[in-house]
Amino acid sequence: MDGYLKPYAPWVDGVWEKVERKMRSVRERSADKIPYTADSGVHDDWKEKKIGRWTNGFWAGILWLMYLETGEERYREIAQHNEEWLDRALLDAENLNHDAGFIWLLSAGANFRLFGGEASKNRILTAASSLAARYNIEKRFIRAWNGEEKKGYSIIDCMMNLPLLYLASDITKDPRFELVARAHADSALKNHLRADGSVYHVVNYEGDGVTIPDKTQGYDPQHSSWARGQAWAVYGFTLSYLHTGDEKYLAAAKRAAHYFIANIIDDPVPLCDFRAPDEPVYHDTSAGTCAACGMLELAKIVPEYEKKLYVSGAMRMLCAIEKDYCDFDPETDVLVKNGCEAYHDGLQDLPLIYGDYYFIEALYKLRGGKELLW
Ligand code: GLY
Repeated sequence: MDGYLKPYAPWVDGVWEKVERKMRSVRERSADKIPYTADSGVHDDWKEKKIGRWTNGFWAGILWLMYLETGEERYREIAQHNEEWLDRALLDAENLNHDAGFIWLLSAGANFRLFGGEASKNRILTAASSLAARYNIEKRFIRAWNGEEKKGYSIIDCMMNLPLLYLASDITKDPRFELVARAHADSALKNHLRADGSVYHVVNYEGDGVTIPDKTQGYDPQHSSWARGQAWAVYGFTLSYLHTGDEKYLAAAKRAAHYFIANIIDDPVPLCDFRAPDEPVYHDTSAGTCAACGMLELAKIVPEYEKKLYVSGAMRMLCAIEKDYCDFDPETDVLVKNGCEAYHDGLQDLPLIYGDYYFIEALYKLRGGKELLW
């Protein structure tokens, strides 16, 4: 892989320098926050709102990546405070949902992997138990969200939460968490991944067979192709392969990645939905940074002659996002602009903390960082 990455080394070093300078300022301004966006240039704070949103672990994740790469204790200190604040969500049983992995892998999970510690271990096992308890034994899936009308719903995003279950099995040496994760991944492979490599965002297992409900963050639930959902598939199936060694997850990740790469031929910055009408144009930089992380992991796994495709796919997106959509000014809290939370809902052109997180994770990988927080 090194060979294919070499030409990008000066770019990676230059961008990292700007990120490091910026994050040193942002970390102090946001030391007491759990941010989600920085629409006005300043991070908002979910500590002041209802803690437990799926995005609430990404700030801790950024802090841990920065700690890993710089060794600066201040990052660790702030990340550890963040992890404690998230306990409010862990004790809010009725609001916990399928997104426990996003929240606790990047906070308690990272802390535990690096330093051990009973408190972090407890958080991981509590969150994993709640995630595993969402498994529907009859239909073999982990249910998404809460509420009676959604009891048959599964979403592709959940592929990114499965590593919490793999980690819980590693810690406890009890296979049941992993068995739940694998059963869900098998169902997702069968029912979310279309033959052409694109994915359904949401499927419904309620009733006879599998149906597609009228719900998506993309343009259209039945026929369109929500780019961030596609990124969750690329990275999520890759992670299930890395944790289990099961080749069918690798094949699924490659199929999803090939579809993604085919859809960035014209525009290297992913649209919010690859099959939306030509107008309006909504980009989703967060889909690009996340998919790039998945592709960089894929490039490490596949044989030498396959690596170039995934490295080029990832680098096309990262370089374009860096060129046109990044703000490296240390005086603002925005890093990556033009994320799209959802196609319909007026939530476009936003800086999103997970867009920032995956941009930094991609740089961390490109600099040779080996720790996988997922
Ligand atoms: N997990 C929700 C999203 O990707 O927006």
